[in-house]
Amino acid sequence: MTVRKVGVVGCGLMGSGIAEAAARAGYDVLVREVSEELIGQGKQRIAQSMEKAIEREKMTSAERDLAVERLSYTTKVSELVDRDLIIEAVVEDLEVKRKLFVELDGLCPEHTIFASNTSSLAITDMAAAVKRPDRFLGLHFFNPVPVMKLVEVVRTIATSEKTVSEALDFARRLGKEAVAAKDQAGFIVNLLLVPYMLDAVRQLERGAASMEDLDKAMVLGCGYPMGPIAVIDFVGTDTALRIAEILYDEYREPKYAPPPLLRRIVAMGRYGRKVGRGFYDYSGEVPVPLPV
Ligand SMILES: NC(=O)c1ccc[n+]([C@@H]2O[C@H](COP(=O)([O-])OP(=O)(O)OC[C@H]3O[C@@H](n4cnc5c(N)ncnc54)[C@H](O)[C@@H]3O)[C@@H](O)[C@H]2O)c1
Repeated sequence: MTVRKVGVVGCGLMGSGIAEAAARAGYDVLVREVSEELIGQGKQRIAQSMEKAIEREKMTSAERDLAVERLSYTTKVSELVDRDLIIEAVVEDLEVKRKLFVELDGLCPEHTIFASNTSSLAITDMAAAVKRPDRFLGLHFFNPVPVMKLVEVVRTIATSEKTVSEALDFARRLGKEAVAAKDQAGFIVNLLLVPYMLDAVRQLERGAASMEDLDKAMVLGCGYPMGPIAVIDFVGTDTALRIAEILYDEYREPKYAPPPLLRRIVAMGRYGRKVGRGFYDYSGEVPVPLPV
């Protein structure tokens, strides 16, 4: 069974990117969000991203039109019943994800593969809730999905070879490079990246330097495309906090403990670039540091 029809659940930052990448690769894609309003916002994000790809000559307007035709949207989970592969990109909350997969498990035919795009939860904790743990794995994409080349393919002790091989085919068709990761919280990238981002916030709290200089130092001194504080805004401060909490809960190592300043920023609703304000304000031409 090859994957032809793809379902994406959640059309936020990541879901919209995954849906776009799959549609551009030729898949028939059905996206589920919780309200018409959020579908509208997701569609707009996809349209803007494709516009950028056209400007950068990564796609033509004719290819864009074809990709848009392959995308459809729904608020009903039940409409995902004919999908061969369903990728979940909803909020980073185990209970929300488990509830969703249990519902899908009761609806979808046996062959449907379930994948989670979680950044920090264990795949096993979701796979154990369904009757098809052999057809369950992690497909961890990176933001922005249409641009970033990597996918972490995460298998549990129950994932079958066939499922892994179908998922690898899917990743390849999207033009991605896959790396295999063990099912432990953080996989590869976040295991290494999250302590670095959190440490930057701790250095900011400690007054080592301004946020602009912390970011500038890592861009110009290490050749990174973005500084660590800017990366947190890019990921979403709320998502970064959830990931840190989950990793800390799993490993109990101080390097994963969320710094108080990150909690304060999230409590103020400064969720980062996606809402226009995080550590920086994104309403003008260039990001401007906000009070911390
Ligand atoms: N932000 C990143 O850089 C990044 C990178 C890789 C993976 N992830 C993971 O991807 C997932 C989504 O993150 P995001 O940054 O896109 O978050 P987001 O907040 O931008 O989007 C989440 C979306 O899911 C929707 N949603 C919630 N419950 C739903 C349900 N039951 N059905 C359908 N939609 C539902 C919400 O309405 C929201 O639009 C998380 O698990 C996160 O850890 C995030």
